[in-house]
Amino acid sequence: MQALMLLLWTGALLGGGSCQNSAGSLEGSPAPETTGVSVEEEDPFFKVPVNKLAAAVSNFGYDLYRVKSGLSPTANVLLSPLSVATALSALSLGAEQRTESSIHRALYYDLITNPDIHGTYKELLASVTAAQKNFKSASRIIFERKLRIKSSFVAPLEKSYGTRPRILTGNSQVDLQEVNNWVQAQMKGKLAKSTREIPSEVSILLLGVAYFKGQWATRFDPRKTSLQDFHLDEDRSVKVPMMSDPKAVLRYGLDSDLNCKIAQLPLTGSTSIIFFLPQKVTQNLTMIEESLTSEFIHDIDRELKTVRAVLTVPKLKLSYDGEVTKSLQEIKLQSLFDSPDFSKITGKSIKLTQAEHRASFEWNEDGAGPTSSPELQPAHITFPLDYHLNQPFIFVLRDTDTGALLFIGKILDPRGT
Ligand SMILES: *[C@@H]1O[C@H](CO)[C@@H](O)[C@H](O)[C@H]1NC(C)=O
Repeated sequence: MQALMLLLWTGALLGGGSCQNSAGSLEGSPAPETTGVSVEEEDPFFKVPVNKLAAAVSNFGYDLYRVKSGLSPTANVLLSPLSVATALSALSLGAEQRTESSIHRALYYDLITNPDIHGTYKELLASVTAAQKNFKSASRIIFERKLRIKSSFVAPLEKSYGTRPRILTGNSQVDLQEVNNWVQAQMKGKLAKSTREIPSEVSILLLGVAYFKGQWATRFDPRKTSLQDFHLDEDRSVKVPMMSDPKAVLRYGLDSDLNCKIAQLPLTGSTSIIFFLPQKVTQNLTMIEESLTSEFIHDIDRELKTVRAVLTVPKLKLSYDGEVTKSLQEIKLQSLFDSPDFSKITGKSIKLTQAEHRASFEWNEDGAGPTSSPELQPAHITFPLDYHLNQPFIFVLRDTDTGALLFIGKILDPRGT
């Protein structure tokens, strides 16, 4: 009943059963539950090879996020899984059959018929890192000291992924500095230097780094930013700088199965942020997390309706510098840490020992214009609703052109690191 009322008031409703079955239920008017036809297979969007590949690596990204979030249930999570996927995809060039298929399964390549995945990956990287997207991502494979690498591995790696492998010197000071310099160069100095030493027992270390600073399509008025309560849970709250727009135009939908209000705000450069805000204050976002897939996000993107809202959004500046090793071990990739076959890289027996991720993500009031673009005006006058990101929420930064997941965050406390 409640969902129906919101339907009448806002004209926006996400159909039931939207999560696991990304099939018909989000398609316009509720489709019969019995069709059993997988919509994502038929959607022309996913017929474009680069979009299909983006969906696959993004599904890996949602898996990685779920594991990472499960490992830290009471902490913020910030991830740009694409950089980790890229390092893995690049590494698969050096993997023999069974090891290659493990990586391909984790990246959902087994569902792709495209014979030239690595060529398409190059296209994907070029698209998502185009200058106007304000998104930087880079990946690198680092090998144990003195390892001799076959040139037949290096050449295709450079061709498709634009990256050269690095071989450690064994001097931890020199190695850390070299990696920091590489990160600085790739991220144009936007990421802080790491002080975390390169572990001495490295055999293969994957490094993925990313940076994003959002530019809203409609900027916030800094004079309307003020300290307001952010509810950490049912009992505790903290004061944080909260931006607000009393007449925001955004895309909105209520998912009555997930008990969450979904909103999308466009950014400049063909990207958007999708927020998942539970209807009641809770740190337990499991149900939303379980539903996240490329196909679900694609459906949301098509189904949300443009509305007017009283909007508040906390200012945000988060960074991450740490391992994702344990997370990778938990998503079908344990075999890479045991006895993988990387004989296309070297004659020596090597294995994955670490995966590291460094990321920084930021939004404030900055944006393109003071008013929203004409194509985002509500079709008819709607009841203005309230959308306050003043309690734990999840956000997804999505590339509009390819559908790729660029960043994902679980914000339990906006003050967090
Ligand atoms: C979180 O919510 C899920 C789904 O509603 C539930 O199964 C789970 O037990 C909850 N976890 C905690 C720690 O409360």
